Amino acid sequence: MTIALIAHGGAGKWRPGSDEDAVRGLQVAVETGRAILAGGGRAIDAVCATVVALEDNPIYNAGTGAVLNFDGYCELDACVMESAGARVGAVSGLQRVRNPILVARRVMEDTDHVMLTGDGAQRFARVMGFPDHDPVTPERRADWFDKRNRMDEVLGEHAHKMRRFLKEHPEYAGGTVGAAAVDASGVLAAATSTGGVTLKMVGRVGDSPVPGAGNYASARVAASATGTGEFVLRSLATRAISERVENGASLAQAVADVLGRMGEDFDADVGLIAVDDRGVPVAMHRTRDMPHAYFTGDGAVVSRMRV
Ligand code: GLY
Repeated sequence: MTIALIAHGGAGKWRPGSDEDAVRGLQVAVETGRAILAGGGRAIDAVCATVVALEDNPIYNAGTGAVLNFDGYCELDACVMESAGARVGAVSGLQRVRNPILVARRVMEDTDHVMLTGDGAQRFARVMGFPDHDPVTPERRADWFDKRNRMDEVLGEHAHKMRRFLKEHPEYAGGTVGAAAVDASGVLAAATSTGGVTLKMVGRVGDSPVPGAGNYASARVAASATGTGEFVLRSLATRAISERVENGASLAQAVADVLGRMGEDFDADVGLIAVDDRGVPVAMHRTRDMPHAYFTGDGAVVSRMRV
């Protein structure tokens, strides 16, 4: 079996000056996952280690450095899924944990449930030994104050202005992280982690923790989505990719088709990464940028800002 892994740092528009750091961070994270797979490790360990590296890098909107909600604190979402047995675990609305993806994995491995949310997820994390950690960075706090001070301009009176604003300023929401991999046994896994969108309503849950929407792994495909989650939720995008491949499409055809439909239906500002059971990685996006990195077989890691 050909091993492969692909990861993204969020669809959107990266500010000049931060783009090189974003690509470098992806390169380092994928090298971490590659070392696990090349050593005979499992896809689930590789995608989790890759996402942990991205959660710990404050330039991405996941874990430390995640964006703040309307009230000024983080609500973190994450999901991990493994093709073997369709095992899946997710958390949403976690406030004070360093690595939500690892809590999601514990949900998968240590509970009878698929998703824990809010106070329950936080309580579970503490019981599992995850210490208190404030993911808010001074940069994100300053950004939040700035946006709150420009509320009329940013949001106006109606929610649809938020949607229009996000479409006109995709750099505002980007930065979700995700990884998809296939290991030497042919098992696939995907992991996705995010802070959601800036100034989101308290309690808003996006696509990232929802299996089949922002994150999915089947026997043929593992995939992770990024961008405005409401569009990904409506499209069940990662599951749609898997279904197309099961129906005979190539992975590239499937990803292009799903992305095209999201464009036609919603003019959605989204991006997708995926890998199939033959070790083919694919990345596509409708935003200007989507920093990503990948490798396949014994090839070197390739990292870049856009396709
Ligand atoms: N795609 C991340 C979110 O909308 O929450």
